[in-house]
Amino acid sequence: MTLALRGEKLTRTFRSAAGDVHACVDIDIEVAEGELVVVRGSSGAGKTTLLNLLGGLDQPTSGRVWIGDVEATALDEDELARVRRERLGFVFQSFGLIPIMSAAENVELPLRIAKTAPAERDRRVAEALRLVGLADHAAQRPGELSGGQQQRVGIARAIAVRPHVLIADEPTGQLDSRTAATVMDLIGDLVHSQGLAAVVSTHDPLLVQRADRVIELHDGRVTSVGGHAPAGPGPADEASGPADASDDAEGPSEDAPHPPRTRAEAREQRHTDG
Ligand SMILES: Nc1ncnc2c1ncn2[C@@H]1O[C@H](COP(=O)(O)OP(=O)(O)OP(=O)(O)O)[C@@H](O)[C@H]1O
Ligand SMILES: [Mg+2]
Repeated sequence: MTLALRGEKLTRTFRSAAGDVHACVDIDIEVAEGELVVVRGSSGAGKTTLLNLLGGLDQPTSGRVWIGDVEATALDEDELARVRRERLGFVFQSFGLIPIMSAAENVELPLRIAKTAPAERDRRVAEALRLVGLADHAAQRPGELSGGQQQRVGIARAIAVRPHVLIADEPTGQLDSRTAATVMDLIGDLVHSQGLAAVVSTHDPLLVQRADRVIELHDGRVTSVGGHAPAGPGPADEASGPADASDDAEGPSEDAPHPPRTRAEAREQRHTDG
């Protein structure tokens, strides 16, 4: 298993006149290549805060983040921006498309920013739109597309840069339940077929079924981690009630010492050993 994303003891405290808000407390999270991890929790549980920390959009009060083998929390702003651009794809609840641009132009935008050559840009745009099933809608503007189609453009834009990690904060929050399930299936398919790692937040219990693993947040703390299925259909019976943490009997425990699973981990262990 190669880790694509790792957060270690992530804590984010917001200070305000009314007192401190502990949005994330001591959260450990690992996401492997080809793994879809769903972060679930009620409103205010800390999902967006956690995703922002993992995506380098916010800095933790304490704790560390690795994107692949790069420690994101050790980078300066410019370096972090580059790592974000090259390795991460973001999908937002509000789609975040530019209304006057066609679907293809929206998908192309991050490639322009990354200064990808024009011919390669065209190839990637076509490929990304095909992967989300919108090859025939390339010329349409967001206003001429349905909500589900718009979100698929948002996903195409995120994957066009061929990120290692997809970070999606309630990508289905604005969609009806059937469309939401389709979008979530698409994310699951992309993760498993392209070897992407994905962290997706939701409070929709139905979407949790698509996850390889579910992390439950409550008041900024992880209350349970459930489901350890590899690629393929996720654990189907976690739709109601908190996931039971007892089902990782055959998987290695998250905090037990283990042999290095990635080159980065091996390096890390060598460092801490000596
Ligand atoms: N910039 C901020 N300043 C102060 N408090 C904040 C800030 N951002 C988030 N919080 C607080 O941190 C807690 C977690 O918020 P967060 O947005 O992460 O929750 P969430 O799980 O994403 O909720 P939702 O499902 O409503 O999107 C909340 O109590 C929130 O009020
Ligand atoms: Mg949120």
